[in-house]
Amino acid sequence: MSTIGLIALDLTIALLVAAAWLGAGITAATGRGGTAKALTAGAVAVTLARVVVVVLLAGRGWWFVQDKVTFALPLLGLAAAVAVGVLVWRGVSAATVPLLGAGFTATTVLILPFFSGYPMRVSQALISISLIGAATLVAWRVTSPTPVRVRVGRFLAPVAAVGLAGVALGLVPAQNLAQQAGAQPAGSGEQHHHPIGTSLETVPAPGGQVRRFELEARRASVTLASGTTTEAWTYNGSAPGPEIMATEGDLLEVTLTNVDIESGVTLHWHGYDVPNPEDGAPGLTQEAVKPGGRHVYRFLADQVGTYWYHTHQVSAEGVRKGLFGTLVVKPRSAPPPEGLDLTLPVHTFDGIVALGSHDGVTQKTVPPGSPVRLRVINTDSTPHRISLAGTALRVVAVDGNDLNEPGEVSGVALRLAAGGRYDLALRMPGSGGVALLVDDDPARAALRLADGGVADTSAWPELDLLSYGSPSATPFGLGSKFDRDFTMVLDRGLAMVDGRPMYAHTVNGLGHPSVPTQRVREGDLVRFTVVNRGLDTHPWHLHGHRVLVLSKDGRDVSGSPLWLDTFDVRPGEVWRVAFRANNPGVWMNHCHNLDHADQGMALHLSYDG
Ligand code: C2O
Ligand code: CU
Repeated sequence: MSTIGLIALDLTIALLVAAAWLGAGITAATGRGGTAKALTAGAVAVTLARVVVVVLLAGRGWWFVQDKVTFALPLLGLAAAVAVGVLVWRGVSAATVPLLGAGFTATTVLILPFFSGYPMRVSQALISISLIGAATLVAWRVTSPTPVRVRVGRFLAPVAAVGLAGVALGLVPAQNLAQQAGAQPAGSGEQHHHPIGTSLETVPAPGGQVRRFELEARRASVTLASGTTTEAWTYNGSAPGPEIMATEGDLLEVTLTNVDIESGVTLHWHGYDVPNPEDGAPGLTQEAVKPGGRHVYRFLADQVGTYWYHTHQVSAEGVRKGLFGTLVVKPRSAPPPEGLDLTLPVHTFDGIVALGSHDGVTQKTVPPGSPVRLRVINTDSTPHRISLAGTALRVVAVDGNDLNEPGEVSGVALRLAAGGRYDLALRMPGSGGVALLVDDDPARAALRLADGGVADTSAWPELDLLSYGSPSATPFGLGSKFDRDFTMVLDRGLAMVDGRPMYAHTVNGLGHPSVPTQRVREGDLVRFTVVNRGLDTHPWHLHGHRVLVLSKDGRDVSGSPLWLDTFDVRPGEVWRVAFRANNPGVWMNHCHNLDHADQGMALHLSYDG
């Protein structure tokens, strides 16, 4: 069973456990002794079943069960033992309050994971115990004759004290935890490696030229191919913004101005390992460009492939509304073959999925036999399924990085992570319909290269990139010795985000900017273990570096080496990736579901010195 399957099973059983213990308590309180006994037996059975499931889940990684093994199950076991003990030795009516207590415990540990992340903290344990205690005291008072009621009050003070201690502990700022981990919280007097706003590169490589672009951020109405008009935030009045194209070795010089985007804009070169000052991360590598402002980005186009740019200031809203465009750099020595070479950013404008600005079906005529390269980019915050009907394809590059010996495949769909890119290559067949479909919908955001019926792709399996292509040498791998090893456990829970308490998307139980900064030294070999303990997908994205995938859910990469800048960590998944720290600076490291990043799921990676 998959890890997320076990997580779902555990939740279902936890629900039954709570219902059974509460039911036993309520029936005991209302004098239905027989039913109470039967329900208690059932409660014991499902509680034991839950223990079994948690043991199985523990096999998938300690992260998934830490709260259950150290807190939830021991506490539940204790409450259950007391309830059963009293029931056996003193009878059903005496067991009413202990049975209800077990019910409250089971309910609390059912709800708790939705509010606490990994690792579960002592403060959360104390608050939970206090809440269970308070509920049990109320039940005791309500169900007891008058003389007993008086005694109940005596327990109130200790129960309250436990709760208050928990709250107080919870308010201790995250800095303490950060110091324990040998890390430092973000924004605490970090040294910027380069002064803000200084460009490093000034000349193209030999043979290259300077390519200048002017991007003006402004509001505009944008009309999609179907005629639908949407109020967008644009670069140069169009969404997507202008295509930026260069040849390897060119120097890109992009001047950004802002007309009327009040919240400010920047340009972040997604997947491009630019020098840190050019990275467009507001508050980190530059200040956001406000209306009337201007900023020049300059960097060498030394990375070949398909990339994109987008604003990084209030990025969830800005990118959604259209502040993005494509960046394609072609090789200088081996120019791609003649034929069709299309860049296709998939974007959802006001609920309408489009390829570029084309919603609906786009038709292109391609002569049989000619080569086609489709550069598909996911500029949304959620994944898309891409399929090519009518002919075989090769995935020649992922996130701008060429794959080794990518074989022809057909009848498979490709899951494209938010922020990710696939370069698909094909040769036009002599006959039959050929179409690129987004999310298996032949009518929406589809590209047709030849007329004819298009297969239904909805049942096609997903191509497994971990086993696609053939292995080749990599500068480091699974067995390397890593200088730094960071684990990021992704979850939801209550946490402070930008100074406000929030139902956040958390990294190791914390929200931005409290998540400790990851510190590295130049030259370090760094490993990330990224664990998704929650129920949402998290496309993880580190700025300034591409990472080599080592394994997913304990399964090593057996195909082509897979270098990515955005990898989709689905619920229950555990990814191990590695990279060489060779691009000094302070970098964002965040979920590319930009709403999640907004709600806390972001941190910094910073070079010492
Ligand atoms: Cu494409 Cu920090 O993002
Ligand atoms: Cu996320």
